[in-house]
Amino acid sequence: MDKYAVIGHPISHSQSPRIHTLFAQQTGQVMTYEAILAPLTEFRQTVESFRAHGGRGMSVTVPFKEEAYRMATRLSDRAQAAGAVNTLIFEEGGILGENTDGAGLVRDITQNLSRTITGRRILLVGAGGAARGVILPLLNMKPSELVITNRTAPKAEALARTFGIESCPMDALFLSPRAFDLVINATSSGLSEAALDLPDSVFAPGCLAYDMMYGRLTPFMAQAHAAHARVADGLGMLVEQASEAFFLWRGVRPVSEPVLAALKGTS
Ligand code: ATR
Repeated sequence: MDKYAVIGHPISHSQSPRIHTLFAQQTGQVMTYEAILAPLTEFRQTVESFRAHGGRGMSVTVPFKEEAYRMATRLSDRAQAAGAVNTLIFEEGGILGENTDGAGLVRDITQNLSRTITGRRILLVGAGGAARGVILPLLNMKPSELVITNRTAPKAEALARTFGIESCPMDALFLSPRAFDLVINATSSGLSEAALDLPDSVFAPGCLAYDMMYGRLTPFMAQAHAAHARVADGLGMLVEQASEAFFLWRGVRPVSEPVLAALKGTS
């Protein structure tokens, strides 16, 4: 039987085995998908061992996405742009590194949440790996503006330069208010329950405020809700990035909706 797995550290919380098992049942694919905890210093050995025992591909999660990028022998354009890999495809003679995170975000926004990205104004908050991973797929949708802001402004400036887009210091958003149709929180601030220093004026009327984190109401989501924005968490992105990986491995695209509903029912 074809074998797949998600590799990370920690890994016990991962929803990926459940998602991919539901995808496999739905599409009639005969495969297994397990969670593998790799010791922090043994990512490569763990991947090679899984491959040697018949593995066909892997999902990669925290903290190994950059190491997976370095391990891949071939990279897709979006993995190259992201500087990180979340999907490994074992090929004859090598490993293809892919990144499906940005595509997952775009699919969740456009398909599940029925929002348009093309021609819209986007504010991306954060300048770490999570932000970097979604920039190219967002740009490919041709928004009218894609502006990056970050607590540490020079990091946003550097990332913006890499992609030839605009950055804006957070305090400048207070001094000269600007409104956006889509505000995406790609920071890890929600982990510490810390609020972001953003003015309510960034949320244009009818704005979608999207937090890439899931499983909790973050201060960003609470602020956006109070400012009358529509609010979404990153659960749909999780399912859609998995769907994209499943498609790359199996050539079949599962239907996300029932899987998302099943996860929502228990999260
Ligand atoms: P990830 O891979 O999740 O993006 P990262 O590369 O460590 O992780 O980046 C974390 C991001 O969250 C950064 O943009 C960080 O801002 P700084 O560059 O100023 O550190 C942001 N972040 C984390 N905690 C934050 C907080 N409490 N308020 C604002 N931004 C925060």
